[in-house]
Amino acid sequence: MKLQTILAAALFSLAAPAFAAGDAEVGKKKAEPCKACHGENGMSATGDFPILAGQHKDYLIFVLGHYKNGKRKNPIMTGQVANLTSRDIADLAAYYSSLRGLDVKY
Ligand code: HEC
Repeated sequence: MKLQTILAAALFSLAAPAFAAGDAEVGKKKAEPCKACHGENGMSATGDFPILAGQHKDYLIFVLGHYKNGKRKNPIMTGQVANLTSRDIADLAAYYSSLRGLDVKY
């Protein structure tokens, strides 16, 4: 096998679990504790908490993973993701990305 093929296969197998298709319905239930800060339907009421509604799924998976592995540090969110599995993260990302977020004005 060519080296490139082996590398591509290795990269794919690393990336695949992170991008597993989440279930938005399941994610909605798992998002219950997130509402306290990120608001009902992912629309937080204050600028202290980011709006999650309508955010891209792959970004949500990426950033939740970073809170988990310490690449992005925030004492609040580190606690929130501590017990999330990659399945939970995929479901939460599917849920929040399925919601309508802010409209962009051009
Ligand atoms: C106690 C309040 C609180 C709770 C509960 C909470 N968050 Fe957060 N969340 C925050 C704060 C504050 C930030 C901004 C942190 C930073 O600056 O990195 C944040 C950031 C995030 C971000 C990054 C947003 C961006 O635009 O980069 C995501 C994604 C996120 N939270 C998801 C969740 C999910 C999913 C849950 C539920 C499992 C949750 N949060 C629960 C307070 C909270």
